[in-house]
Amino acid sequence: MRILISKLGENIGKEVEIWGWVYRQRVTKNASFLIVRDSTGIVQVVFKGESDAENTSIESSVKIRGIVKEDKRAPTGIEVEGKSIEIVHKAERFPITKDQSTEFLLDVRHLWVRSQRMNRILKIRDLSLRYFRDFFYKNNFWEVHPPIITKTGAEGGSTLFGFDYFGDEAYLSQTGQLYLEALIYVLERVYSITPSFRAEKSKTKKHLAEFWHLEAEMAWFSNEDNMKLQERMITYVAQNLAENHAPLLSNFTDVNRLKKIKYPFERMKYDEAVEELHKKGFEIKWGDDFGTPHEKALTEELEKPLFVYDWPKEAKAFYMKEDPTNPRIVKCSDLLAPEGHGEIIGGSERIWEIDKLMKRIKEEGLKEDNYKWYIDLRRFGSVPHSGFGLGTERFLKWILNLEHIRDAIPFPRTINRVYP
Ligand code: 4AD
Ligand code: MG
Repeated sequence: MRILISKLGENIGKEVEIWGWVYRQRVTKNASFLIVRDSTGIVQVVFKGESDAENTSIESSVKIRGIVKEDKRAPTGIEVEGKSIEIVHKAERFPITKDQSTEFLLDVRHLWVRSQRMNRILKIRDLSLRYFRDFFYKNNFWEVHPPIITKTGAEGGSTLFGFDYFGDEAYLSQTGQLYLEALIYVLERVYSITPSFRAEKSKTKKHLAEFWHLEAEMAWFSNEDNMKLQERMITYVAQNLAENHAPLLSNFTDVNRLKKIKYPFERMKYDEAVEELHKKGFEIKWGDDFGTPHEKALTEELEKPLFVYDWPKEAKAFYMKEDPTNPRIVKCSDLLAPEGHGEIIGGSERIWEIDKLMKRIKEEGLKEDNYKWYIDLRRFGSVPHSGFGLGTERFLKWILNLEHIRDAIPFPRTINRVYP
């Protein structure tokens, strides 16, 4: 019977069958050594004397019969004594070898995803999303599915991907937010996990053209409630990852680093953040948005995430609610990850009064016709509400301390790459 590599430890002394792929191969005069991988792990199989193990190649698919042995020297404490091997498919010469350039590895991404590194990242990505969903479920949210093809931008025209939609102009969604706002009138608390698209001209280590957006929208929530929910959510996911998946995570990070991610998070008003940046020698003006260097400077010394809240209206999107005590400020927050990673969440309270919303749509020069339905939401039982969006890959880049955001997604889309 086939046994998964992760379960070999429960089968010491038994004859088992392993199905997988050849990860490393070494043939000597007296024996062949194969490291075999399946989705669950890797193990060394030793074939003494002559055998078909000599005729395999890296990444060949194989079925092996052998006896499971304890071996203190092996990294997993286990080795298999090979008895027979069936080569299911003999791989051609595998193009990935040691010391290849980043560009080359991106060209063969469809093969590079088989690496142990990507295997682990993909698992942690899946686990993280399970914990996010779990958190929402426990807090009475419903998962919903906004459209990806839209007529409305929400995060600025410059990063919209437009295309021809049966003779009409449409866009790939930048955010599901406006549709989540419609759905709070049905379900009160909703979230979605969807691809979002940004035609980002910037070539940075944290921008993708296609990313997975985790968004939530809540009826009756102020931005204060919104921030509290965000910090509890991040804490829940980080603590569950640290507690339940330490061996997997330890390939990337000290797990104690994750155990420190506990609410309450740090907080700073935009005004204070600007002051802090001036002290650090930045020439930023009140009203400017922050760039990567600013976010880095604000967070590189921190261990916990930092909320920067109450931003100038001109730096933020049209739908954000004015501070009733200061019309130049909107009730919103960016959550910046520590150690220089920067923004992972953008959130705000939304304008829920029709006249104020129409005024902002006009001020921003948006086509009112395309937003008619969104304005309509303010005509029928409008309520105060708030929400946020988290970039899944930004979250993973921070949690795993990845050098570049592209490693948080199997097939990254960036300004100069849509292949493979
Ligand atoms: O701050 P953003 O633009 O906010 C919104 O889209 C809101 N409508 C969300 C909401 O309130 N429902 O984007 C939210 C998050 C960012 O904080 C960042 O983590 C991620 O989405 N993000 C990107 N991630 C990777 N590559 C990009 N180009 C990204 N742009 C935004
Ligand atoms: Mg933002």
